[in-house]
Amino acid sequence: MHLSGRSDRHKEESAPLCEEEILTHLDTDRIGRHLEILEEIDSTNNFLGQSGNQFPDGAVAVTEFQTAGKGRHGRQWISPRGRNLMFSLLLKSPSLPPPIATLIGALAVIREANHQSKQVFLKWPNDVVAAGQGHDPPLKKVAGVLCEMKTDENGIPLLILGIGVNVNVTEKDFPEAMKEAATSLEILSGKNINRNRLLAGILTHIESYWSIAEQDGTEAIVDHAKDICSTLGRRVRIKVGKGEFEGKAVDLDPIGRLLIADDTGSVYPVELGEVVQTSQIT
Ligand code: BTN
Repeated sequence: MHLSGRSDRHKEESAPLCEEEILTHLDTDRIGRHLEILEEIDSTNNFLGQSGNQFPDGAVAVTEFQTAGKGRHGRQWISPRGRNLMFSLLLKSPSLPPPIATLIGALAVIREANHQSKQVFLKWPNDVVAAGQGHDPPLKKVAGVLCEMKTDENGIPLLILGIGVNVNVTEKDFPEAMKEAATSLEILSGKNINRNRLLAGILTHIESYWSIAEQDGTEAIVDHAKDICSTLGRRVRIKVGKGEFEGKAVDLDPIGRLLIADDTGSVYPVELGEVVQTSQIT
């Protein structure tokens, strides 16, 4: 996500990240009970990946600014200081696989964002999007999830769930090339959003979805994802590795893979693809 740098006009527009306020609104037993609030860091994912053994399971690192924020597929995640939400969650010896953790991260953002207005959806597998204006409008990205696995020095597997949300940026903050492709919660709701409450809400929903998946199985998460997945029922062009193919996105399978029907009707599961274009089927 490419956003312009800090503008002094906006520096007072987001209340700073505040541990006390986050904890006041957090309704969890495990997730976010240990918080690292960082004024600046290269990447919250890197921070937890490198120093995970110093922090307990469920620890969260959140920052006002990343100097080397990472997106999926080796992209950068660039966001101005102090206006958006950039955080990572550390889960040790995770009970769920990365594709389901990714879906849970996106669903948690959607649930919290839709408290105010039902405007955001899932773009499989990791994007939170809003519809633009007009007939078959392009989807605009609001948030993204980057899930990484590491092993600590004692051989314990670490899952790091990184989430970036465009919160209090406005149209003019996006470079021209991004205006069509990105939006923010403030643009969608017309209101300045309290990032501390937003973070507490997202973490609370992550814990609740995680428990549902552990108790009822990952299909319960996938079923929920299907209800709010803007990708399903659309014609998609999808990048898988170096190749690309087109078809109709027909379903998600029980482990969260996207099922694509090609023009002959054969259905293929896609696990690690990127949907590069979608259009309504007319
Ligand atoms: C994507 O849509 O490509 C995923 C973007 C993930 C960005 C977040 S911001 C917090 C965390 N730290 C990072 O370096 N990346 C993730």
